[in-house]
Order: sequence, then structure tokens, then C-alpha cells
Amino acid sequence: MWKGRFKEQTAELLQQYSESISFDWRLWRHDIEGSIAHSAALEAAGLLSADERASIVAGLREIGGEIERGDFQFKRELEDIHMNIESELTRRIGDPGAKLHTARSRNDQVALDLRLYLRAESDAIVERLAAIQRELVALGSRHSEVIIPGYTHLQRAQPVYFAHHLLAYVEMFQRDVERVVDCRKRINVLPLGSGAIAGSTILLDRELVAQLLDFPAITQNSMDAVSDRDFAVELLSALALVAMHLSRLSEDVILWASSEFKFITISDAFTTGSSLMPQKKNPDVAELTRGKAGRVYGNLVSLLTTLKGLPMTYNRDMQEDKEPVFDSIDTIKAALAVFAAMLGGIRANPENCAAAVGDPNLLATDLADYLVNHGVPFRKAHEVIGKAVALCAERRCELTELSLADYQALSPAFEADLFEMLTVENSMAARRAIGAPSPQNVAFQLNRWSSRLGNEN
Ligand code: ARG
Repeated sequence: MWKGRFKEQTAELLQQYSESISFDWRLWRHDIEGSIAHSAALEAAGLLSADERASIVAGLREIGGEIERGDFQFKRELEDIHMNIESELTRRIGDPGAKLHTARSRNDQVALDLRLYLRAESDAIVERLAAIQRELVALGSRHSEVIIPGYTHLQRAQPVYFAHHLLAYVEMFQRDVERVVDCRKRINVLPLGSGAIAGSTILLDRELVAQLLDFPAITQNSMDAVSDRDFAVELLSALALVAMHLSRLSEDVILWASSEFKFITISDAFTTGSSLMPQKKNPDVAELTRGKAGRVYGNLVSLLTTLKGLPMTYNRDMQEDKEPVFDSIDTIKAALAVFAAMLGGIRANPENCAAAVGDPNLLATDLADYLVNHGVPFRKAHEVIGKAVALCAERRCELTELSLADYQALSPAFEADLFEMLTVENSMAARRAIGAPSPQNVAFQLNRWSSRLGNEN
């Protein structure tokens, strides 16, 4: 492609080192789409005849068809997807092919391809986030009556609906959706027409290209357009947060499926056995997903580090952007899909949940609130109930087993009705503020999300 300036062939060792075709071939569809739009601008500028453009478009479509069928032979010596396609096009159609790269550089071409690719993948990821949200809502709805202990510090804290816990993740994934959708706006800007760095002396209609490729905006500085990848960093950062949320959900699933908790059972299809221990049923999907957060974070740091310190504008370092980007997208798409499928096969174990949530200590805060409702300042009430808990620990009994006299010895504000209110059901019913898990609120939220996400009921 640059034979005019050089007397020697590129060293074999350099070809191996610098090729990107082994991974950027994946951009083929976008590269062809971009070239077809570019050829329209060339024709509009009178640089291609209608016939020449028609042969370019037909040639590109033919090459695209072969790549799609796996019949296309990529050449490493042609370095990347852009040169592989252009060179094969010219081999097939001759001169018109040699005109395609007019007023274009691989620098604006690769920026375009990456944006087109990330735009499509953002949409795919948003769909998969919605799918996992749907499964979380469905799982909560299948077990809408189940109450479990909620934890802080992994110590039993207060009772919550199982569905409330799952809906917490639905909210998190919704913010992930919003981040991806927002970042897509900055991906969705046309860089083509920026040339290598300073546009071109040949004037092309960028608005026409933007319209053909469905870009609502056009980059306004040619140097910026070929040198930054901040839009990819943003998406990788949004994906790192998806990975973080998936990893925490994984941890909950792993704990809940353990013999110590037994709150849920995962279907056989989404668990694995042990080659040695016959009794084992392992939550590998959740473990792998928790593990994959590492590489998704790594990809973000890798791209940030590649870009830092690069002088304006394009530098070959930037070819290192693709593998981390592809890897995070592949990893997150796979994790979301397999996790959603696994959630579909999860059943809660209501008896075990009920046994765990039957721990009267979970109602200690409710007892303090009882005293507040009887005129005791909260700090004082907290201390009184703390003493009641200590007394239980001493006597090896539960809060429900202390007598009214025991309670009244701790505070005269206690009355006989305290035992009636001391139930999980009362505790849940009282939590009526917006965002709190009263049965009405949780049912409302399950309904709200079901209709918003299009769950089938
Ligand atoms: N393979 C290159 C990349 O991915 C394409 C751009 C090459 N531009 C250049 N001036 N060498 O970044």
C-alpha cells in the first residue's frame, strides 16, 4: 500500500508484530458499510462515476458475503481489515477500487469502524441487561411471599422480601442501562472526513455520509476525531460496573446456594459436579462471572493506560485498543446471557428461608421502634434492647422468650402487646415508606418492573 516510498519489503518479523487482522477482521461489516457510504460522497463530489460506484458497492458486497460465509482469505501481510478489503476490492474491480481511498485515511476509517461496532454492541448489551432484569423480576414474582434475612457485614440484620433483594439488582442494572445508553450518544458521532489528521484538500459532503450511516452528529475537529478513544473508555467503564454488579449478584447466589444458607437451589443444567466428590453441586456460573470481573476491569485499565501520554494525534499504540474492547464486550454479553439463563432455573427453598428469617434477633430494631412509639427516645430505646439481647445471650434464649416482667424491668414503657407486634409479618407490614419492603411496596415494584420490562405474567 505504501510501496512508492520504500525499496525494501517489510520484514516478516514486523509483519507478525504489527498485524491486527487476526482480531480486527471482526470489524468487516462496519468497514464495508463505511466504504459504501464514503463512495456515495465520492460520487456526489464527481470523483466517481455512477458506474464506478456501482462496481465498488457490488464488489464490497461480494467480499462481505464471502467473509460472512467464511470463504474469504485474510492476508497477514495486508496488516488490517481496512487494507485487506480495499486491496481485494481493487484486485477484483481494478481502477474504481483504487479510487475508494480518496480523501480518507485508515485513521478516520478505523475510528469510524470502531464507533459503528460499539454503537451496535451498545444496543445488544442494553437488550441483555433488560433480559437479566426480566429474569430477576420473574424469580422474585415466583417467590413473592418468601422473606429472608437481609444482611449487613454478612450478619443477619432485618427481614426483607426475597423479591426486594432481587429488585435491588434490577435497579443497579437499570443504571447500567442508562450509562450505556448515555455513552452511546458520544459513540454515535461521525469521524469520517477527518482524514489522517487534517481532513483533506478534496471536499466531501460529510453530512451526506452522516445521513447514510445514521449518525445524528459529526465530529468538529479532525485531530480530535482521529486521536481519541474516550468513547470506548466510557463504554468499558460502564461495562466494568456491569461486571461489578454481576459479581456481587454472583456472590449472593453462591452464598444462598451453599449448605450453610440453602435459600435457593440452582437447576442441574446450570451447576457442575466434582470429578472426585460425588455429592458436590457447584455454582460455577456465578463463580466464573465473579471471576470475569477481573478481566473486565483489566481491559478498562489497559485502554486508559494505552491512551495516556500519547501525543496528538493518531499513534500506532492505538491499535492496542481493540482487543480489550472486544474482550469486555464478549465477556459481558456472555455473562449476561448465561446468568439470565441460570436465574430462570433457580428455585427458592421457602422452608429454609422461613427458618432463617424466624431468628427473633432480626426484630430487635422493631422492638426499639416499639419503645419509640411509646415515647422513649431512640438512643435510650437502642440501649434497652441491647440489654435485652445481652440478657438473652446470657440465658441462651430468644427475645421472644423473655417475659413481660423481664422487659418491664428494662423499661416501664413495655406493655403486653409487645409480643403480638413481635412478628416478621408485622415487621414487614410496617415498612411502608417509599423504597422500603412492605408487602404492598414489593408487590407494586414487581408490577412496575414487570410491565416496564415486558415480563409475561
Ligand atoms: N490497524 C490500525 C489500527 O487499528 C489502523 C490504522 C492504521 N493507521 C496508521 N496510520 N498506521 O489502529
